[in-house]
Amino acid sequence: MSEKQSKFYLTTPIYYVNARPHIGHAYTTIAADVIARRHRLLGDDTFFLTGTDEHGQKVERSAEAAGLSPQHFTDQVSASFRSLWDRMGITYNDYIRTTSDRHKKGVQKLFQFLCGRDAIYLDSYTGQYCVTDETFVDVPVGAPCPECGRITETVTEENYFFRLSSYQRQLIDLIESGELAIQPEVRKNEVLSFLRGNIAEAPQTELSAKGTPYVAGALKDLSVSRTSVKWGIPVPGNEKHVIYVWVDALINYMSAIGYGSDEPAEQKKFEHYWPADLHLVGKEIIRFHCVYWPALLLAAGLPLPKAITAHGWLLFEESKMSKSRGNIVRTETILDAFGTLKPKPQDLPGAVLNDTFWKQQQDLFAADVLRYFLLREIPFGQDGSFSFDALLQRYNSDLANGYGNLVSRTLNMIQKYFDGVIPDPEKFGVSRYEPKKMPDVVEFESQFNLANFSKALEAAWALIGATDKFISDRTPWKLAASSESRGQLAFVLYRAADLIRVATYMLYPVLPDTAARVWDQLGLGDIRESREDHLITERLEPGRPLGPLGPIFPRAPKELIQLMTDMEQKNNSTKPEPSKFVDEKTTHTSPAPEDSTHPGAAPRTSSLPSENPAAQVGGSAATTPELPKPPASHTEAPASGPFAASAAADTSQIAIEDFVKIDLRVARVLVAERIPKADKLLRLEVDLGSEKRQILSGIAEWYTPEELIGRRIIIIANLAPRKMRGLESHGMLLAASHGENGKPILATFADSDEIALGSRLK
Ligand code: MSP
Repeated sequence: MSEKQSKFYLTTPIYYVNARPHIGHAYTTIAADVIARRHRLLGDDTFFLTGTDEHGQKVERSAEAAGLSPQHFTDQVSASFRSLWDRMGITYNDYIRTTSDRHKKGVQKLFQFLCGRDAIYLDSYTGQYCVTDETFVDVPVGAPCPECGRITETVTEENYFFRLSSYQRQLIDLIESGELAIQPEVRKNEVLSFLRGNIAEAPQTELSAKGTPYVAGALKDLSVSRTSVKWGIPVPGNEKHVIYVWVDALINYMSAIGYGSDEPAEQKKFEHYWPADLHLVGKEIIRFHCVYWPALLLAAGLPLPKAITAHGWLLFEESKMSKSRGNIVRTETILDAFGTLKPKPQDLPGAVLNDTFWKQQQDLFAADVLRYFLLREIPFGQDGSFSFDALLQRYNSDLANGYGNLVSRTLNMIQKYFDGVIPDPEKFGVSRYEPKKMPDVVEFESQFNLANFSKALEAAWALIGATDKFISDRTPWKLAASSESRGQLAFVLYRAADLIRVATYMLYPVLPDTAARVWDQLGLGDIRESREDHLITERLEPGRPLGPLGPIFPRAPKELIQLMTDMEQKNNSTKPEPSKFVDEKTTHTSPAPEDSTHPGAAPRTSSLPSENPAAQVGGSAATTPELPKPPASHTEAPASGPFAASAAADTSQIAIEDFVKIDLRVARVLVAERIPKADKLLRLEVDLGSEKRQILSGIAEWYTPEELIGRRIIIIANLAPRKMRGLESHGMLLAASHGENGKPILATFADSDEIALGSRLK
């Protein structure tokens, strides 16, 4: 990134619209925005793309669970991503949606082109399919998916296949030579070992151009169409097939810049910007970006992206922040909380400070705080934990006490001792330093160019710290006491202001709103318009008046942590209290789903509206799934292992909209078995008609496996999956809680009831 390029095209992954955005998504988008801003400052013709991935079974199901058509649903969620990026001042140049016509055209064009080249062919295939990951996996019948642990389904399909296997050697060579750059090294090695196959067990290996062994044939052809999915882009000329959602999604990087368009201007745009200079992705999707995507491009004879950089995960409470785990933090919470700290400018007339304007200003202020925190706190490429405590701590130590305080104390002294004009030490016969690039700046740039943002910011703060120390050592307030030391005073304050200028320019990509304010206070105008190399010292022009001064980062009170915690709860007020699971040892709080769009959303309260008697399956008790029991029964009555209920129901009421969020389905128990060393747990495999699921339930004390097999039961199908004993449990059984010890009585259908598996209870 250091040398000047005439164009720089960078992308984020396009985000799935089955969940509203959380700070995990914001993390990638922020990093991309930081890189884009820096390239613009360097004068590059920068194009920054983001957008949403809107097809596929997951989205179809989420829409269904939300009671909306897929298009209506995706319109809503896509808009929520876009408006969040706008709130945060993300400078994307285009926003691609895979349901847009321009995208569909691009996808169909490439697909057709590859069919014409025989790189894609039609064949029949039987295999194990993971619905969650939307991919066939290489496991035996009935085995769980190696990626997500959910039970796979046996699917036979006539499918289109991409000749991925033909590109194994070429991809290995391209990656080994660095022509296709994958960062960090650990991800590059992961991709290479996938491409090379299992060398240890192979009877025979071949050698790459670099002489490393690989197992020829380890890379299999890829199924690139589905007949089971409706919500997607049809294969041109054979419309019962829908193009595999990942192939559809990856093509966004080209369709957004004109690939597939008939417009000459769009075609030119494609020629100008393609290939991408950088695809920024999370580490879990490197195989799609570093294997499938380059192979598709090779097959089409198109240039490959220059680099793919994968970052790690944001963890919250020690696991990856994600909707399905229910451990997410919303960006909005941070914007709302930190926005309250933004100092109101005194010189703006009240009328200008109308609500909308002021809210925007607050959002941009708070977005800077989040940008800084995420990039400083987590070494890019590694996983890192997010916590409100750490956020507040960094804000106060680095931003308020560090940079903000340095700016305020320096500029206030210039105001006080030099009437707000940048002093000129030479006027007092004191010469300035030779202009140079400070070592911290050199370090900043080199770390930044390697996407080591945390280290780069550390270097920036070394400069800030050194400047602060310089002021403290030179004691300008003492120098001001005597007119004889006025030259020295001018020198110290000039130097400090000049170093602040350098640091501010350096920080602009990470702290765009703050840097613009400081630039203005320094009297330098609009930072986005400054093209000069501001990373060299002694370039501050003496004699210029400062702009209006004001605080930069006021200290944040500790109460903000509680405020954010409360806000998170309030934001999620439409979602249930966390469901109570009991496994054989303790009562667990299962992760609560994120929002109303989440299939796992369930009511907070226990009673059902009387207009919905049909929902009261299994007796009134069975309709109180979320009821928190008194503490004593939590530990003593693991009857809530299945979705147990108690007669002592909480009587607060819910709206019908809340009830419809619970997806209750009829299922048949196919397999029931004990789990070694888990006395109270049973592992069930249930058939929901369209899919099979694994559910772990704490009913082993009351039901033998034999009693359960073949029964038609009711499950809560849209409950977020969770792991117990290393096994995934996806759903809960509905049961009434009976007697003092809370014995669960499963809600079941009689054999005589004519009810299809998967039928919804409503
Ligand atoms: N739709 C696909 C990507 C298709 S790109 C052609 C997808 N979408 S996603 O919504 O699941 O978003 C994935 C990306 O969001 C990750 O690769 C990562 O960039 C970001 N993150 C989502 N959760 C995250 C964390 N908890 N932590 C860090 N990044 C996270 O995969």
